[in-house]
Amino acid sequence: MSVRAVVMAAGKGKRMNSDTPKVLFEVAGRPLVSWVVDAVAAAGIDEITVVVGHGARAVADSLPEGVRTALQSEQLGTGHAVATALETMGDVTGDTVLVVPGDTPLLRPESLRGLLDARGAADAALLTAEVPDPTGYGRVIRDGDRVEAVVEERDATDAQRAITEVAVSTYAFDGAALAAALVEIGNDNAQGEYYLTDAIECLARRGMVRAVAGADPDEVQGVNSLAQLAAVEAMMRRRILTGWMERGVWMQDPARTYVDASVSLEAGARLYADVHLEGGTSVAAGATVGPGVFAADSVIGPGARVWYSVLRSARVGKDAEVGPYASLRPGTVMETGSKIGTFVETKATTIGAGSKVPHLSYMGDATIGERSNIGAGTITCNYDGYEKHATVIGDRVRIGSDTMLVAPVEVGDDGWTAAGSVISKDVAPGALGVERSPQREVAGYAARRARRAKKKDD
Ligand code: UD1
Ligand code: CA
Repeated sequence: MSVRAVVMAAGKGKRMNSDTPKVLFEVAGRPLVSWVVDAVAAAGIDEITVVVGHGARAVADSLPEGVRTALQSEQLGTGHAVATALETMGDVTGDTVLVVPGDTPLLRPESLRGLLDARGAADAALLTAEVPDPTGYGRVIRDGDRVEAVVEERDATDAQRAITEVAVSTYAFDGAALAAALVEIGNDNAQGEYYLTDAIECLARRGMVRAVAGADPDEVQGVNSLAQLAAVEAMMRRRILTGWMERGVWMQDPARTYVDASVSLEAGARLYADVHLEGGTSVAAGATVGPGVFAADSVIGPGARVWYSVLRSARVGKDAEVGPYASLRPGTVMETGSKIGTFVETKATTIGAGSKVPHLSYMGDATIGERSNIGAGTITCNYDGYEKHATVIGDRVRIGSDTMLVAPVEVGDDGWTAAGSVISKDVAPGALGVERSPQREVAGYAARRARRAKKKDD
């Protein structure tokens, strides 16, 4: 006997008011359906069929390799969705079919295992939750352990609506019993849909359906609206951050810390408030990030210090310093102990070990060697209107303040540039590049001006 899973993910999600298929909305940087598929896989189930329909191609593309899909071209209800999956799965006699909705990302693998174990010899087991406000959910009608039916909100009587134990679209079925029940259900209900919940009623009439109560209501919270998406996001964020804190990551204020599921942090990393870490970002031990940092797909090395800055596909080396108010664009590489300071923008630039770009600069397509200093206000003029060109700066170079480096250009090791120079020719190693007109002095200028102004007034 094997367990085969069906994930229902074909619905449009009307209540989201969006063209994006509901299950592709993201929580902690991952689509809803990916969370569910991962939970099913983590419960030890190898065969997973995802029912796709609305935005089928995009949903299928978001799935990991090895996950099967079944196309439900018209979304005629959850019962129809599972029937569509079964058509592609061949004979399920003797198998257990686990059914989960694609819109409950907080569902834990342990809860799925618990449901599968609790089914025993029953025709079906369904996960239920006791919720303070059951609005919108199917209500569980039961007699002791035995479920009699699940009644949808719109089809429920007032008395049934008062029931606070709800179905959460998560079921373990005996394969043959499920297949038989799905043939019998109709669509004579408020929504004109084939309800999977009717298969429960059908099985309950003939055999045994067991309720598995006690699911944590947070864990089974579905996403049907943007408000619910935000609520689920907040819970997932809590879960992720708690996990990192347990592993030794210090956070000043988890309520103001945003860490995607794909991010990795080392014990001893420190996060101040208002930090957003996304994509493949990692933060090493002893690094301090924030307050006020957005970092996507960036590597922050051990002992680095980054605050009030934006990093995209950047690498911050060991003990390097960034900010405040720096923008590190893709391809920025900072070697050990280097610095990018206040109001500095970098792109496709390597800053060598111990080198500094402390103030008000733009470094694009540049390579800076070791222990060089870039004076305040220095700009790499890397774009001639047609193409981008490279600037190469050697080791131990002193670039004077307000130098314009007109690329392609190179300043050799130990070279200097004079402040305010427009450097359009290479500077040899150890040389000083100066490009300035000699300063003139106009003596008595102030007095002359004053006389002129006085004449006008007379
Ligand atoms: C469903 C249940 C309800 C339960 C609630 C809890 C039914 C009839 N109702 O209602 O008892 O309390 O979930 O989460 O089952 N889907 C398809 N194809 C379809 C219709 C839906 O794949 O034709 C998918 C959706 O994409 C979604 C899932 O099934 O991921 C559930 O559908 P949804 O419309 O959200 O059902 P609810 O109204 O929440
Ligand atoms: Ca739902």
